[in-house]
Amino acid sequence: MMNNVQPGILAPVPKLARYLSFSLKAGSRPARAIRLLVGLANGESIVVGLGQSLVHALGGNISGLRVFPTQFGSGLILPSSSSALWFWLRGDDRGELLHLSRKAAAATASAFDLESVIDGFKHDTGRDLTGYVDGTENPKGNKARHAAIVQGYGAGLDGSSFVAVQQWVHDFERFESMPSKEQDNSIGRRKSDDKELTGAPRSSHVKRTAQESFSPEAFLLRRSMPWSDGNAGGLNFVAFGKSFDAFEAQLKRMVGAEDGVTDALFKFTRPVTGSYFWCPPMTKGRLDLRALSM
Ligand code: HEM
Repeated sequence: MMNNVQPGILAPVPKLARYLSFSLKAGSRPARAIRLLVGLANGESIVVGLGQSLVHALGGNISGLRVFPTQFGSGLILPSSSSALWFWLRGDDRGELLHLSRKAAAATASAFDLESVIDGFKHDTGRDLTGYVDGTENPKGNKARHAAIVQGYGAGLDGSSFVAVQQWVHDFERFESMPSKEQDNSIGRRKSDDKELTGAPRSSHVKRTAQESFSPEAFLLRRSMPWSDGNAGGLNFVAFGKSFDAFEAQLKRMVGAEDGVTDALFKFTRPVTGSYFWCPPMTKGRLDLRALSM
């Protein structure tokens, strides 16, 4: 049993969520704001991630943490927003989430500007807004811990996790104009029963990302949730790993860096942000920032 992990990482996705991203105010000294944050964040209703710019501003270094790359080896340029601080607020009551996010923003206001707020939710039994079940092939139990949680690096690092976050915006009109066979082929699974298609095309998303087909195997703990704002919507892709290696291996294949085949997802959806964060471990119910000498 690992009790030094922010519990929201390993738990199933909640009914509702809010994602807050912050940038550092120019010239600010964030240590005080981070201490206030430690008093607020329990790792369960608030999962916290620190970006590389923040770790540097605190005078620290987390090996393996870097800025989200814009290129993964093909001509496709992906957006990198690389925020300084990220909160994943988890709950089941929209009012409570609003008040929690106001508290979190107030606690950090001396050093951070709130850049974006994304409202996320569970759709049906856990489907993407295209109707496909998302998360089926996620590792579970010990395999989930093994994929997502740093172990064997000593106190302060063990129990932490690296998270990749991308907001994807769906073009629903484009998606709905595709015949259902083409829709199923783009994912590589059947929408009606979530069965994997035999003979799915190489461009299908699950062929691109089949975790066991990489060497070494590239398992990720995906905790993505649909988002909406007015009539716009998509997926807030969130993947935890013991490093960013598995995520980068997956994305390389998705953009066609290995064989020139682009993931069919790109026909109807695009990322508009991209950030990497380090999610610190916990000790006695509090965020453990000893890796940053705090
Ligand atoms: C809008 C963006 C995306 C959508 C709608 C989407 C949707 C899906 C769906 C429906 C599945 C099949 C069911 C499942 O196993 O979960 C799946 C599988 C998967 N996706 Fe995505 N995904 C998106 C982006 C990404 C990205 C950016 C990555 C990684 C860089 C990724 C990695 C994976 C992996 C590893 C699997 C499981 C593959 C396997 O081992 O079978 N996905 N995704």
